[in-house]
Amino acid sequence: MCGIVGYVGPRPALDVLVPGLEGLEYRGYDSAGVALIGSDGLAVTKTAGRMADLVSALESQPVQGSIGIGHTRWATHGAPTTGNAHPHRDCDGSVAVIHNGIVENWAALRQQLLATGHEFSSETDTEVIAHLIEERAGLSLADAVREVMKLAEGALAIAVVRTDEPDRIVAARRGSPLVIGRGQGENFLASDIPAFLKHTKNAIAVDDDRVVEMTADSVAITDLDGNPTPIAEREIEWDLEAAEKGGYSTFMLKEIYEQPTAITDTLRGRIDGTGRIEFSELDLDTKIVRMIDKVFVVACGTSYHAAMMAKYAIERWTRLPVEIDIASEFRYRDPVLDDRSLVIGISQSGETIDTLAAIRYAQAQGATVVGLSNVVDSALARDADAVIYTRSGPEIGVAATKTFTTQLVMLQLFGLYLAQQRGALDPGTVGNLVAAIQELPQTVERALKLEDQIREMTTEWSETRDFFFLGRAGDFPVAMEGALKLKEIAYVRAEGYPAGEMKHGPISLIEKGVVVIGVATDSHVRAKTLSNMEEMKARGGTIVMVVEEGDEDDVASVADHIIAVPDSPDLLCIVNAVVPLQFLAYHVATARSLDVDKPRNLAKTVTVE
Ligand code: F6R
Repeated sequence: MCGIVGYVGPRPALDVLVPGLEGLEYRGYDSAGVALIGSDGLAVTKTAGRMADLVSALESQPVQGSIGIGHTRWATHGAPTTGNAHPHRDCDGSVAVIHNGIVENWAALRQQLLATGHEFSSETDTEVIAHLIEERAGLSLADAVREVMKLAEGALAIAVVRTDEPDRIVAARRGSPLVIGRGQGENFLASDIPAFLKHTKNAIAVDDDRVVEMTADSVAITDLDGNPTPIAEREIEWDLEAAEKGGYSTFMLKEIYEQPTAITDTLRGRIDGTGRIEFSELDLDTKIVRMIDKVFVVACGTSYHAAMMAKYAIERWTRLPVEIDIASEFRYRDPVLDDRSLVIGISQSGETIDTLAAIRYAQAQGATVVGLSNVVDSALARDADAVIYTRSGPEIGVAATKTFTTQLVMLQLFGLYLAQQRGALDPGTVGNLVAAIQELPQTVERALKLEDQIREMTTEWSETRDFFFLGRAGDFPVAMEGALKLKEIAYVRAEGYPAGEMKHGPISLIEKGVVVIGVATDSHVRAKTLSNMEEMKARGGTIVMVVEEGDEDDVASVADHIIAVPDSPDLLCIVNAVVPLQFLAYHVATARSLDVDKPRNLAKTVTVE
C-alpha cells in the first residue's frame, strides 16, 4: 500500500515527483505529500485527498528544490487526513520520511520517544521513524537509517532526507517494494518502475534489509551493518506508453483490450517447435517435479480465482491432489506439508503480504514453492524457490484483468508442464491442449467483440442492486471472478456461487429484479447448470447465460440474454468466458459514473495483513 518517489539531480524535483506520484496513485490515493530540500531548507507540502489536491496546494504555495521525496497514501494507522499524510518530520523539522508498509512495533517505539521528550504531530506509525532518526543526529544519515531499520519491525520501504546532508536521499527496504532508477547525473527511487520510466530505463531492484544512499552521481547499497552489497542493474523492456492509457478512457478498459497481446507475450518462448512446454526461468529440479505428491495453491482475491482454476487443471491433467487456500487463512489451519509438497503462490504484484506469509510458512515446513508473479524481482519472485512470470506489462487499473487471464493461461500451461514432466498425460493429449492454448490470443480477441452487446445489456441495470453469478466446475471460478469485478468497481452486491448449491439457501434471495448470470461453457456440467438456471428463472430472476458459440439454441428458452464466447477445449474456455464479465462490471460501473480505475477503499498492492 502507498506509493513512494524520490529524486536527486539537476531538475526541479517537483517536475519528477508530481507526475511520478500521479503514476503511482493506484497504490493508494487518500492523501499525498512531498518534501523538498532547497535554498530555504526543508519544505513539506501535503494534503488529504487525491493528487489533484496536492497539485492545487503546490500551485498556491510553490516550493523549490532539486532533491525531494513524495508519497501517495493508503491509510493503515491514522485516518486519511492532512496531518497523517506523508512526509513526516522530526521535532525540529530537519528530517522528512516517507514510508510504505507498517512499523509493527510503532506503539512501543512511540512510547519510548514520548518518554524522552519527542512531540508527535500525527497518528501514524511512520512518524516514529523521523524521531528515531532525529535521536541519531550524531550519525551520518545512512548510519542512522541502518540503526533504525534494525529497531523497526514489520514491512518497510522508506526514503529519508535530512537538512545537514542536502545532497542525498537515504532509502531502505524490508518487505515493501523499492526500485532505484539510475540516470545520467540524476537518480530516482520509487515503489514501482512507471514512476520514473519517462526518465530512465535502468532499474535496480532493492533487496530486503538493504539501505540505499543516493546522490545525483552515485548509488550505494549496503546491508544493515554497512557492508556494501552488489548492485544488479537491468534495462526495463517496456516503455512509459505501456503504462499510460493509450487512447482508452480508463486504464481498466485499455488493460481489458490488451489481453490478447498479454497472453501472446506470456506464451512467448514457453513452447518449443515440437510442442513441448519449456519454462526457461523455472529453476526447479526435475527430480522434485517427479517426487511431489501433493500440490497447494495460495493466493488472494482475483489471484485466488486463478488458484481455483489451477486446482481443476492440475488435478485433471496430473492426477496429483491439489488443495487451494486463501493465503490469509493458510497458516491458521495447520496444513499438512512436507518436502514432497509443491506450493504455488500466485500474486500479480508479488508483494501481497498474506501470500508472502503463506509461502514463507510453507517453506519453513520443507515444501518447495513456485511463485507466479507479473512483477519481475517482486518479493514473491525472490522468496520462492522458483518463479514463473506472466508478462502482462504494468497493470494500473486497480481491478485485475489482464494479469488474471495471463495467470489462467500460465497455470494451464504449468499444469500441462507437470503432466508432461511426470508422464501423466500422453504426449498427443498434451500437444493438442498446448496447440489450443496457443489459439487463446485469437479467441480472446474475438471475445473482445462482445463489448457493444454487453454495454447495451447493462443499460437495463442502472438501478439493479443484486446480482448472482453461478457456475459449476471450471465455470465456477469464472462466476466468482465476475462477481468480484462487479462488487469492487460498481459497488453492488454480487455473489459468486456454485450453481448446484443455490437450492441449499441462497435461492430464497431470488425474485423479480435480481439478475442471475449463469456461466455454462464446460460441457461436462452444462446440462446441470442449465437446470439450476431454470430454477432461478422460475423465481423471477433475469437470466443471462454465458455459453460457447454454437450452444445458443440450448439456452434460448431459459435466457433473457445470451453471451456466446468462442469455444476452446477443456478448461481453456474459462479464459474466453472471463472477458464478457469484465465488460459487464465495467459498463455497470461506468453507467453509474464511478471511477473504475480507482475504486473506493481499495489499493492495487496490498502490503498489510
Ligand atoms: C481484484 C484484485 C484483488 C487482487 C488481490 C491480490 O480485482 O485486483 O483482489 O487480486 O489483492 O493481489 P495480487 O495478485 O497482487 O496478490
